[in-house]
Amino acid sequence: MIRNCVPATLPATLPATLLATVLVLCGCTNSVTRQDQTMASAVHERGEYMVNLLACGRCHTEGYLRGNEAQAPALAGSTVGIAFTPDRAGIQPGLAFAGNLTSDEETGIGSWTEAEIVRAMTSGVGRNGHRRLPVMPWANYTALTQSDLIAIARYLKRVPPVSRRIPESTNEGESSNQPYVRFGLYTFDPQGRVQTRELP
Ligand code: HEC
Repeated sequence: MIRNCVPATLPATLPATLLATVLVLCGCTNSVTRQDQTMASAVHERGEYMVNLLACGRCHTEGYLRGNEAQAPALAGSTVGIAFTPDRAGIQPGLAFAGNLTSDEETGIGSWTEAEIVRAMTSGVGRNGHRRLPVMPWANYTALTQSDLIAIARYLKRVPPVSRRIPESTNEGESSNQPYVRFGLYTFDPQGRVQTRELP
């Protein structure tokens, strides 16, 4: 009786068990996917919050360096240079241009990895190994937590692409027709004379 019962019940119960397993797995996968999505959007929101809070657009969005409102899509770079060498009569200062941080592959950071973005932000070293100039306050960004840095990089990678080419930075003495500002490199004395300081 028992002997008969086992083979008779197995085929009947097996599909049900399989079905149940599949259902449980599906349920599980769905809830994992939902959790992943919730997590991804929390990271995205955190990245957006940090980018606004740290005011990346004040340099990386056209308009602000001229003292105006944004004149181009957010974070699509600035064609106004930032002088990083002292004022010397007759010598064009070196200019740094805050690049296009949108996800455009050609003109933005679309093809950068998250690690490359984090490295540029925290070590001042760009993708091609070129040392970033002191105008970007990267030394301050080393205080950010790893999860905030990743959130920023991830958010930037999802900023819709804007094709906008920004001039290459120039060295002191190299000619450039771009307008520029001096940033953190000069003070006015009480007589209103500009005083520049040498970079360390
Ligand atoms: C005070 C101006 C300033 C601020 C604020 C600033 N940057 Fe920059 N950033 C620059 C400049 C200038 C460069 C280009 C430097 C160079 O060419 O050596 C740059 C370069 C970069 C680069 C390398 C990409 C490229 O095209 O060269 C990344 C990535 C970057 N910035 C991200 C950020 C993020 C993210 C923030 C906000 C957390 C930020 N920056 C805030 C000025 C700024």
